[in-house]
Amino acid sequence: MKTIQSQFVKKVLLGGKSLQKAEGSAFAPSNIALCKYWGKRDAGLNLPINSSLSISLGELGTHTQIRLRERGDVVCLNGVQQAAESGFVQRIGAFLDLFRPVLGSLFFEVRTQNTIPTAAGLASSASGFAALVLALNDLAGWGIDRKQLSMLARLGSGSASRSVYEGFVQWNAGQQSDGTDSFAERLEIEWPELRVGIVEVSADRKPVGSRDGMNRTVVTSELYKSWPDQARADLFSIRSAIEQFDFALLGKTAERNALAMHATMLSAWPPLLYLQPDSVEQIHKVQRTRADGLEVYLTIDAGPNIKLLFLAESEREVCEAFPGIRVIRPFPQL
Ligand code: PMV
Repeated sequence: MKTIQSQFVKKVLLGGKSLQKAEGSAFAPSNIALCKYWGKRDAGLNLPINSSLSISLGELGTHTQIRLRERGDVVCLNGVQQAAESGFVQRIGAFLDLFRPVLGSLFFEVRTQNTIPTAAGLASSASGFAALVLALNDLAGWGIDRKQLSMLARLGSGSASRSVYEGFVQWNAGQQSDGTDSFAERLEIEWPELRVGIVEVSADRKPVGSRDGMNRTVVTSELYKSWPDQARADLFSIRSAIEQFDFALLGKTAERNALAMHATMLSAWPPLLYLQPDSVEQIHKVQRTRADGLEVYLTIDAGPNIKLLFLAESEREVCEAFPGIRVIRPFPQL
């Protein structure tokens, strides 16, 4: 698998210049998919079965600095050096292995700082791998474009391909087996009134990671057979909703898409149940609140936490109905 990935890195960087600096640094936002990526057609190159569309979370994300070292990798997370045998360091180390030959360096020092509160249970792998690729680009001076950076980030984590941009981002699944047409692009549309609210249910580590969860779903779930068509239709509706600022269509489609993804997980074997009792309670609450006339919708990733979608005009009432939520404004405010 590594050889295929290393060859892909060389292909993407072909023609990129190299003006190495002492240190590279970058920030990448976290993102939440409105139309989810669920299922790989190629695990080595992280090529998805379906295209997806997300919204980046503004200043919530990851800041990363990277420098070359003579001996041994050092990885710090939020100011604390991480044990070499930890899963976090192993995953970063395996990703850096793809870049050691092209950078002529055997070791790195990586300092990474998340502005996402860990307790919010928001995936940091997307912003983490995107920030790492952007910092490597800054260090090496490759001068490659966002499309290429998106493809490199994709190798770390699929959703990281979307985190190299702000705003609404579409990751096109692509068709080619070499992975060179599978990258994310930014939609040139801003929606300053849009809000995302995080309802924290649990900050515990999920028992099954998304890589294994996807694989299990694709291989064993009968319902997954309908997912690619559902995702294609939802992506089309979400794009139209964004282009027309049709919030009801956006919210409805995003909620249905997330619940359909969970239906494919539930019908896998062994079943994948990421929702906790409190997640289900919050789903009912969103539906009740909406029936009472407040326009609020939800989306859920491969975990127990609920993300609310609403507009600025409903912010006060949503905060009253869901006390303690963290409200994110993904776009610059007017
Ligand atoms: O990028 P990964 O491997 O962490 O998978 C992300 C999967 C979901 O969060 C459930 C959906 C998505 O599109 O972000």
